[in-house]
Amino acid sequence: MTNNFWQQLNKPILALAPMAGITDSAFREMCMRYGCDVAYSEMASVSALFFKPQKTMELLKFNASERPYVVQLFGKDPEHFAVAAKIVSTQVKPDGIDINFGCPAKKVFGHGSGCALMPQTALTREIISAVCANTDLPVSIKIRAGIEGRDAINRVSTTALQFIESIKDLPFSTVMVHGRTYEGGFSSVPDFAIVEAIKKILPDKIVLANGGIHTPEDAQTILKNHPTIDGLGLARGVWGRPYLFDEIKRTLGVSRPHRALDTQCPSAVEYDFEKIKKLATEHAELLWQSKGALGMFEIRKHMSWYMKGFAHASEMRQKLVQAKSMEEIKTILQ
Ligand SMILES: Cc1cc2nc3c(=O)[nH]c(=O)nc-3n(C[C@H](O)[C@H](O)[C@H](O)COP(=O)(O)O)c2cc1C
Repeated sequence: MTNNFWQQLNKPILALAPMAGITDSAFREMCMRYGCDVAYSEMASVSALFFKPQKTMELLKFNASERPYVVQLFGKDPEHFAVAAKIVSTQVKPDGIDINFGCPAKKVFGHGSGCALMPQTALTREIISAVCANTDLPVSIKIRAGIEGRDAINRVSTTALQFIESIKDLPFSTVMVHGRTYEGGFSSVPDFAIVEAIKKILPDKIVLANGGIHTPEDAQTILKNHPTIDGLGLARGVWGRPYLFDEIKRTLGVSRPHRALDTQCPSAVEYDFEKIKKLATEHAELLWQSKGALGMFEIRKHMSWYMKGFAHASEMRQKLVQAKSMEEIKTILQ
């Protein structure tokens, strides 16, 4: 491994967790400007990279200011993982590669990828080994608290602890644990004690907790109750609030080593309506630069999230989700 950046990050590490359709270049840039320490890509199919890489390579493009940047791969074929790891390392050149063992979505899980791999120890070991053997970058994995085996598609149960015991000798460097089981979906109460138990099994690796972190207080409580955890993965909590990273760091009283934040924001930032409008414009501009007209379509959901919680902004929200150009968005926000 040439450079394990994970070990150099200040703790607690605040990561932007991977989200398909959300964590594109513009959103990662926004998060990095506002206090995020490391950002994951949207998940990328190893089979797409194996057979027809062009579209996926487009999805994985990034700017240097998004570093440290981790590309997440999903699939089930070790040979495809091997080739994809090589392509990503030599052509995309991120800072790390992540393997998706947590996705419950039908089109991923139903094909035997994502969380469906957790009970398949031999295959999982082959996949992690194939990726590690084909890259110099640090390899991370993203898992769930387990599978209870109640689902019609998969009746085999595994806990995250059994899973980690079965792979702990392999040379991956980091694990992000979504504290909900497969059956727990996206709304059950996450189990963070299991994340701490995993850190006990992997004292030399980085272990991050993910699930249901929406406020600085959520972050503070998890880190207080589970002090050995190395950091947190934020997902839906940062929709329309990329500055949640900054707010968490302020609440925890930790330094903010990130350059963009320090140059762009005064020391005591009030994330009031005026500031949010500026952030929304900043985000729209980044999307316009990276995706052009398509970006103007994608910005709609983000605009709606930025305006959420501002009751008096409902008219503005309605206009924003119909806007067709950057100029229109700017006019509405001003
Ligand atoms: C729209 C959406 C897309 C997601 N895409 C991915 C993905 O590509 N890879 C992955 O490992 N997890 C993915 N996740 C799961 C998140 O990374 C995270 O584990 C989950 O949302 C729980 O965190 P939260 O409760 O803070 O949202 C996705 C979640 C959402 C809501």
